[in-house]
Amino acid sequence: MSEVPLIELNDGNRIPQLGFGVFQIGPDETAEAVQRALSVGYRHIDTAEMYGNEAGVGEGIRASGVDRDEVFVTSKLDNGMHEPDDARRAIDGTLEALGFDHVDLFLIHWPLPTRYDGDFVSTWRAMEEFKADGRARSIGVSNFEVGHLERLAAETGTVPAVNQIEAHPYLRNQEVSDYCAANGIAVEAWSPIAQGEVLGDETIGEIAERTGRTPAQVVLRWHVQLGNIVFPKSATPARIEENFAIFDFELDATDMERITGLDRGEDGRTGPHPDTFAMISD
Ligand SMILES: NC(=O)c1ccc[n+]([C@@H]2O[C@H](COP(=O)([O-])OP(=O)(O)OC[C@H]3O[C@@H](n4cnc5c(N)ncnc54)[C@H](OP(=O)(O)O)[C@@H]3O)[C@@H](O)[C@H]2O)c1
Repeated sequence: MSEVPLIELNDGNRIPQLGFGVFQIGPDETAEAVQRALSVGYRHIDTAEMYGNEAGVGEGIRASGVDRDEVFVTSKLDNGMHEPDDARRAIDGTLEALGFDHVDLFLIHWPLPTRYDGDFVSTWRAMEEFKADGRARSIGVSNFEVGHLERLAAETGTVPAVNQIEAHPYLRNQEVSDYCAANGIAVEAWSPIAQGEVLGDETIGEIAERTGRTPAQVVLRWHVQLGNIVFPKSATPARIEENFAIFDFELDATDMERITGLDRGEDGRTGPHPDTFAMISD
């Protein structure tokens, strides 16, 4: 099997294009799942304060025998922690839970434009501090729409290294992706297989059958060929392996276009819309 490509970010750091997502993996199961993913070959783990399983991520990495420096670890600032002083405490909490002195990438999880008087700019300035002092090697955002990115560009000096957005065959999210491509922001596609929803699609099934791959492999390969960074989540050992085996085949231009043609626009969105999402958990 060929190697996972590295994508160079706009700050010069490099991220493995395929990683392992741990959303909805229970805190007690996370260490084992992470260890399994690392044994398969994944070297990039995507977690968040909101997922409540950062400690399991750190534990799994330590137990794996793989060097910390060989694993790219992302976490995300929780929605209730956008005030700069809260953000400063939050990243220390993340590092303590992980048991590491830095994360490779730290993201503002949601822009929350209807909270904090619409001010995600001072939150971003706190993120710039974390990069400057080394607590985060790279900083980025998640669920930022074009207008949110334009505002950061107008009011701050650092372009986010990545924007992590919902993207899969039913929600291509083209406008945000195009803005990111034009401005040197790498796109990370969350829910890359729409939590399984796209796997029963007839077109994807036909391509999978013809290429001798599974529907999940076809969809993940489509992302990779678009240039997206992906980190499918699975708590199932066979699927963790299946999702990693996507670098020894290629989709032709016709199949790429057919999958892109499945886009349902807003109707394909499975998660909340970033303009209105305002959830803060206790
Ligand atoms: N920034 C954000 O706001 C945000 C939001 C959501 C997610 N994320 C990140 O993105 C990652 C991935 O997204 P996600 O977890 O929402 O969804 P996903 O990766 O698109 O799908 C995960 C679901 O698909 C199943 N699955 C995985 N591989 C499969 C395969 N090969 N065949 C059939 N079913 C398969 C999993 O089941 P089993 O586990 O039972 O195998 C699970 O139910 C998350 O873990 C998280 O790191 C970020």
